[in-house]
Amino acid sequence: MIPSKKNKFGRVDLQVTAFSFGTAPIGNFLNPIPEPEAQALLETAWDAGIRLYDTAPMYGHGLAELRTGHYLRWKPRDEFVLASKVGRVLKPAKRESIDFSPWANAAPFTSHFDYSYDGTMRSFEDSLQRLGLERMDICFIHDIDRFTRGDEQPEVFASAMDGCWRALEKLRNEGVVKAIGVGVNEWNVCFDALKQRDFDCFLLAGRYTLLEQEALNGFLPLCEERGAAVIVGGGFNSGILATGARPGAKYNYAPAPAEILERVAKIEKICAAHGVPLPAAALQFVVAHPSIPSFIAGTRTVEQLKQNLAWFSHPIPQEFWSHLKRQGLLREDAPTP
Ligand SMILES: NC(=O)c1ccc[n+]([C@@H]2O[C@H](COP(=O)([O-])OP(=O)(O)OC[C@H]3O[C@@H](n4cnc5c(N)ncnc54)[C@H](OP(=O)(O)O)[C@@H]3O)[C@@H](O)[C@H]2O)c1
Repeated sequence: MIPSKKNKFGRVDLQVTAFSFGTAPIGNFLNPIPEPEAQALLETAWDAGIRLYDTAPMYGHGLAELRTGHYLRWKPRDEFVLASKVGRVLKPAKRESIDFSPWANAAPFTSHFDYSYDGTMRSFEDSLQRLGLERMDICFIHDIDRFTRGDEQPEVFASAMDGCWRALEKLRNEGVVKAIGVGVNEWNVCFDALKQRDFDCFLLAGRYTLLEQEALNGFLPLCEERGAAVIVGGGFNSGILATGARPGAKYNYAPAPAEILERVAKIEKICAAHGVPLPAAALQFVVAHPSIPSFIAGTRTVEQLKQNLAWFSHPIPQEFWSHLKRQGLLREDAPTP
């Protein structure tokens, strides 16, 4: 597979690269990334032909948008596709007064959830100001899942299906944004959203990977039927599918539980039998689904990024995928490359 290959973005008039750049790490997720390193990451992605960038106000309280905009601002605007998100409004505050967790050395803004119509419009406009760009192409409603919002989720979801939806639908009708969707860590929240509203796309994090394919239960078939595009973030399940089942490997942003370590170790055995690096399989599996035009990889260093780009095009024999299915390690109905 070629990372810079362009794929159609569902029913929308957009082409996106099969491999895209996720900007959560350059928002200083968990650990700080120095400014030159952040710009070097963006440059390495650009030089490799990567033309889809995913950011959000949340990432580093605006820092990821500032850094992404700083790099992309002088590139020909029609040459890249930019996605950002709504659902949080940032307000300036004294750095010492801000709880940045889980971000390190983020930008001096507090972050407040706001899924109202006005809050969505403000968030959208503020993002463009931070990016220093005249438009974003794709806009997702961010974090309206149980993973992020716990017991408040039903209320939050209902409020987003009203306020955010009305604002984004207006922006889409006016041609200000090309595609609107939902960006969450749970496939069933995407499924509910698609059943209720005419979304173009989803950013599904961690829930359609080499490890788990429950999204095939209804959600992905509905996307195929409706022409909705799904981009997968967290496709390494936050680390373990990149590092393998080693002690301390991360699953869902926390140390992987025993059953996940065990399952990954089984997949690794089959990888070894076919000479396939585990992360190569993790990357290539996701974009084999006809509704998934791009894999958003989270990468912290230039070295990781180059490695991921190489894994994306590592040859994988057909027999590898059949072998995983025979062992019950991949769903029978999962499309493979
Ligand atoms: N709700 C949402 O909309 C949502 C949620 C999650 C993600 N996303 C998007 O998806 C993007 C990717 O997700 P993610 O970063 O959370 O998860 P991910 O891609 O599953 O995992 C990224 C982590 O995997 C490890 N990794 C990556 N390449 C590696 C390599 N070559 N060697 C060793 N380890 C490697 C790194 O861990 P270490 O940092 O430990 O080195 C990296 O931080 C985000 O940047 C964001 O754009 C969106």
